[in-house]
Amino acid sequence: MPDLIITDAACTRCRECVATCPLRIIELPRGGLPPRFTEDGARRCIICGHCEAVCPTGAIAVDDPRLDPATYQLPNVTLRPEELGAYLRMRRSVRRFRPEPVPRESIVELLEVVRYAPTGSNRQGVKWLIIHDTAEVRRLTGMVVDWLRTQAGSGSPLDRHFNLAGMIRSWKKGNDPICRNAPHLVIAHSARQHPTAAVDAVIAVAHLDVLAPAHGIGTCWCGFFQMATEAWEPLQRALALPEGHRPDYALLLGYPAVSYRRPPKRNRLEIAWR
Ligand SMILES: Cc1cc2nc3c(=O)[nH]c(=O)nc-3n(C[C@H](O)[C@H](O)[C@H](O)COP(=O)(O)O)c2cc1C
Repeated sequence: MPDLIITDAACTRCRECVATCPLRIIELPRGGLPPRFTEDGARRCIICGHCEAVCPTGAIAVDDPRLDPATYQLPNVTLRPEELGAYLRMRRSVRRFRPEPVPRESIVELLEVVRYAPTGSNRQGVKWLIIHDTAEVRRLTGMVVDWLRTQAGSGSPLDRHFNLAGMIRSWKKGNDPICRNAPHLVIAHSARQHPTAAVDAVIAVAHLDVLAPAHGIGTCWCGFFQMATEAWEPLQRALALPEGHRPDYALLLGYPAVSYRRPPKRNRLEIAWR
């Protein structure tokens, strides 16, 4: 169970931790004593760390064996809204990759940041399977094509919406219309016990998708791979996810062989105000 570590001398009793805790499980006892968990607070704590994050004097910290003890030194940087807006507008799906691998450490560096994405009840249940071996990406892509063969000509919505026969022909010719010859494939997966598990994973993948270009790394959501992982047993067996885990989304990853010069146009914004 988590514990609250208080540096009594630093605590000004300002109540910021009490007011910010989303579960209201921190109290300031009478008699000028420092903050502490309410009676069942430790059991209910979701270890979101907001008490620690909000404390003006750094007097409170959450301790739990699940927490990575590494500390992050916040750099003194300010991102202007127009910089972030320009960055987000310039993020693009990359479908042309250079063949050289992205070092494992660079991918870990991205995922270290992605850990900060929100998750329902701060469950942090998103796990990652990284197919780093490019030959293995190709082998798995072949399995997606096997699944597409079962879909082509079936008249299913997928078959009607996409030119599956054309994709299969393209694969036969040595092209890769599924994984776009990406050197790596990142798969987020989770045990689906928690109601927000699948959404948590998609949010995490979105954070990865947004962060990667800042490191010179390109990504593309891989819907065909994802659909195949949900439907095609041979591919599920090949992924060998932990018992009870489901693939939540697949993202292609590699150094881009394309550079985008300007943002494309987007559909008109539609908003209803009430
Ligand atoms: C859930 C999802 C699945 C996608 N699946 C594929 C895919 O299978 N193949 C592909 O080339 N692009 C895929 N994309 C990329 C979209 O086509 C792309 O986001 C869209 O065309 C807009 O381009 P942009 O991301 O560069 O803004 C997918 C995107 C999302 C969000």
